[in-house]
Amino acid sequence: MEQERLQAPSDDSAGVTPAPPVTTRRRFLRYLLGFSVVSTMALVLTPVIAFLVPPKTGSAGTGGVVSAGTLADIPLGQGKVVPMGSKPTIVLNTEQGVKAYSAICTHLGCIVTFDGANGTIACPCHDGRFSPTTGAVVSGPPPAPLPVVEVSVDEETGEIFLKEG
Ligand code: FES
Repeated sequence: MEQERLQAPSDDSAGVTPAPPVTTRRRFLRYLLGFSVVSTMALVLTPVIAFLVPPKTGSAGTGGVVSAGTLADIPLGQGKVVPMGSKPTIVLNTEQGVKAYSAICTHLGCIVTFDGANGTIACPCHDGRFSPTTGAVVSGPPPAPLPVVEVSVDEETGEIFLKEG
């Protein structure tokens, strides 16, 4: 009997009762469910919206000029693939100057990269090889050279510009 008095709070105490907990288990679970629904919707809708709204990087096919970084980004004897609108382009800093080609292999369309060990542009799919100075086929199955992309370098800043065709 004395235990009941100790455990059960009395309503008629002197008015100093602790505030009831604000977050109940049910409310917490409701928040958790709402968060998971919103997260799931964001995960589903983000790629759909990204697919429907094209990226605003360059303007492919309009004859615009796209920056490909600076010479500091591509040291002599190196190369990298950069986006030119929706088309990948490989930019190379060679002894003969900065060169740029479409990075889409003329065999079956894989994306080529620069192979610094061999000094060639290499296709990872069937080991097609292209010349870094001309884009011509060196070896492998590609039937045609890589299309040349017009490139210019700002003498003062070293910024590399690609002209979209
Ligand atoms: S796709 Fe490049 S060599 Fe086949």
